[in-house]
Amino acid sequence: MANNVTDALKDKIARKSAVVGVIGLGYVGLPLLRAFHESGFPVIGFDIDRAKIDALARGENYLKHLGESFVKPMSGSPRFRATDDFARLGDADAIIICVPTPLGRHLEPDLSYIERTGDDIAKTLRPGQLIVLESTTYPGTTREILLPRLAEKGFTCGSDFFLAFSPEREDPGRRDFNTQTIPKLVGGIDAASGELAAALYRQAVEHVVPVSTAEVAEAAKLLENIYRAVNIAMVNEMKVVLTEMGIDVWEVIEAAKTKPFGFQAFYPGPGLGGHCIPIDPFYLTWKAREFGKPTRFIELAGEINHAMPDYVVGRTLLALNQGGKAIQGAKVLVLGLAYKPDVDDVRESPSFELIEKLQALGAAVEYNDPHVPATHKMRKHDLGMKSVPLTPEALASYDAVLIATHHAAYDWQRIADHAKLIIDTRNAMKRVKGRRDHIVSA
Ligand SMILES: NC(=O)c1ccc[n+]([C@@H]2O[C@H](COP(=O)([O-])OP(=O)(O)OC[C@H]3O[C@@H](n4cnc5c(N)ncnc54)[C@H](O)[C@@H]3O)[C@@H](O)[C@H]2O)c1
Repeated sequence: MANNVTDALKDKIARKSAVVGVIGLGYVGLPLLRAFHESGFPVIGFDIDRAKIDALARGENYLKHLGESFVKPMSGSPRFRATDDFARLGDADAIIICVPTPLGRHLEPDLSYIERTGDDIAKTLRPGQLIVLESTTYPGTTREILLPRLAEKGFTCGSDFFLAFSPEREDPGRRDFNTQTIPKLVGGIDAASGELAAALYRQAVEHVVPVSTAEVAEAAKLLENIYRAVNIAMVNEMKVVLTEMGIDVWEVIEAAKTKPFGFQAFYPGPGLGGHCIPIDPFYLTWKAREFGKPTRFIELAGEINHAMPDYVVGRTLLALNQGGKAIQGAKVLVLGLAYKPDVDDVRESPSFELIEKLQALGAAVEYNDPHVPATHKMRKHDLGMKSVPLTPEALASYDAVLIATHHAAYDWQRIADHAKLIIDTRNAMKRVKGRRDHIVSA
């Protein structure tokens, strides 16, 4: 039901005078902050990482794949602020949460970032604020985890403040879609919250798709990612089977792709990577247990996808063996540390597992990645390695070159011309000319 508070916020959104705060200025939050700024709203970026706040104050972009000038339109603008002072959350009329949602050690959801953010917002919550969660999570999080924290002060959701979920569908590195052009799902905790959140996004995003509840929006995001995880697992299994039969899985996919309906191409690889596909499906698995329901597709897909690094290492070992070389003491170069092409994002990248598994077998492993000059300490890995130069002499000095990520910057012909043995997990060698007897797909 409309009241003064609702109408006042609606009016501010319509006039673009509502202050939009974004919490968590990473791969998702920073482009979103810029999108609202670009559409004319005053914006405040919040992050606990002081280095990011300082970089933004200097007009520097720390997300390299977006280009150096990405934050320039905001820097110096009177409508832009970035801060690590969460007492300023009360200044924002709309607060959008883009903090991480990783998995714990036992594949359980780690909602500590959302919980902490909920507590931060609650401290300065005032009537007329709209809160939207964008972080990927299981259905029920917005209502069960955020709502009680925000309602603690005695304000009522739907009339004093408003709460909704709108999943982020960002695909870093993609050129054909951006924050403004990817359709935005929005579902509220109640009708008023849903309507206000949809009204807000309509000002910055071309196509907003309202759904009936926050839970539908939460579940839709998981469906999208589970669909990918399952299909990637299916095609990874096809790769293993067809390779054994001497059939090229990549040619098979190209052939199947010519069907104009009922088929969407997915591609095999050395394992799953990134913040989403290896992680998000298990959020549903965890929640499904509460209802006594198994998620067999998710578990099976996880099993197959997690077996891929071992498969690739096995293929490498066999290929070296055929050339009379043991893996013990072999020099191996891994090409690509990022989990996908042309970005510097190494989260959950299978390259780390490949390197560690090869090292455990006694190989001397180095890596090259034009986007990742050195490794840094991560939750599961601390390799302490630096990217090595990719000269023709260096390429020729390795017993095997393992292609893990097909960055556009790589000159595949040059790599094919100089490497002794190539293990190709990405079909990167498909167009190279000359001899191919040193190329093994894996
Ligand atoms: N990266 C993607 O492609 C992508 C796509 C769709 C959805 N998502 C989802 O969006 C969410 C954010 O992902 P991301 O890739 O942007 O993560 P990220 O790690 O790039 O960014 C998260 C940011 O939040 C900050 N942060 C952490 N705790 C905070 C706190 N308590 N208060 C304020 N800031 C805090 C971090 O310093 C970091 O800058 C996740 O739930 C993720 O699953 C990511």
